[in-house]
Amino acid sequence: MAEVPLIEVRDVSKHFGTVIALSGVSMTVWPGQVHCLLGDNGAGKSTLIKTLSGVHKPSEGEILLEGRPIVFESPRDALDRGIATVYQDLAMIPLMSITRNFFMGREKSVTRGRGLFERLDMKRANAIAREEMAKIGIDVRDPTQAVGTLSGGERQCVAIARAVYFGAKVLILDEPTSALGVKQASVVLRYVAQARARNLGVVFITHNVHHAWAVGDVFTVLNRGKTLGTFRKDEITREQLLNMMAGGKELEELSTELAEFARSDRARQPEAAAVEEEVAEELEKEVELDEKLAAQEHRLRRDGS
Ligand SMILES: Nc1ncnc2c1ncn2[C@@H]1O[C@H](COP(=O)(O)OP(=O)(O)OP(=O)(O)O)[C@@H](O)[C@H]1O
Ligand SMILES: [Mg+2]
Repeated sequence: MAEVPLIEVRDVSKHFGTVIALSGVSMTVWPGQVHCLLGDNGAGKSTLIKTLSGVHKPSEGEILLEGRPIVFESPRDALDRGIATVYQDLAMIPLMSITRNFFMGREKSVTRGRGLFERLDMKRANAIAREEMAKIGIDVRDPTQAVGTLSGGERQCVAIARAVYFGAKVLILDEPTSALGVKQASVVLRYVAQARARNLGVVFITHNVHHAWAVGDVFTVLNRGKTLGTFRKDEITREQLLNMMAGGKELEELSTELAEFARSDRARQPEAAAVEEEVAEELEKEVELDEKLAAQEHRLRRDGS
């Protein structure tokens, strides 16, 4: 492993007026490592990666890029320095071709003609787009087809392939699998693994502990703008991660709350109360299932090591 991390976040805070979105967060991204950023809604995950990708400037603290302090002037600045971010609502134009989307903002890299006549060399660009997609196992028969005709997972892959092709060192993925079905999510996870194999540093943001566990090397958990720590995979279990994400405890609280509502609504709104009771029971079942899974995993780990 290299001696200098790709990115180091030191004690970063970010305030929006009176809202403290991040408070004293530190994390380090190494090449060839998938760093998962976990946490509930509003935990500060997107805010953190936006400070890494030049959208926000930190209110306090600093960011180091390959050992040197840096302030990104804009997302473009961060991108030019090798930090590529793929957002869930992708910056892609559905009606434009795969190739056009692939080279968006980088048209100058494959041109023909000179001066006024300089333009994107479509033939070469098509060939590159097709080849790069093939490298990740997606067979694009016709790169001139509109991006809108691709599945969600394939679109994510176009964005990732584009970032890798244009020389990203750090790939940041904000909830790339959350809107995808199992098959499509697996395509994205596979590509995350390939980016790691190419020695990129990957920051993978997700709510889904299972997805994180499948591809992650280290895990940072955010909670209300603070980090609960960074853990290597061999230092933590999936059950502990689940607990840290407040899944179990919160579900239990939700269940109790709903049961309480059901009691107070029973007299006036018996139908609503019945539904609330049902929901409370379902939540309770989820909690039990989580606990069972955690115990199972604990046993597996104990017996395996
Ligand atoms: N531009 C902004 N102005 C004001 N408050 C903001 C801004 N961006 C984020 N926040 C607040 O900062 C907190 C953290 O938000 P953030 O989007 O980083 O959470 P998140 O972990 O990405 O959540 P989610 O899982 O829902 O995407 C939230 O309370 C949010 O309302
Ligand atoms: Mg977010």
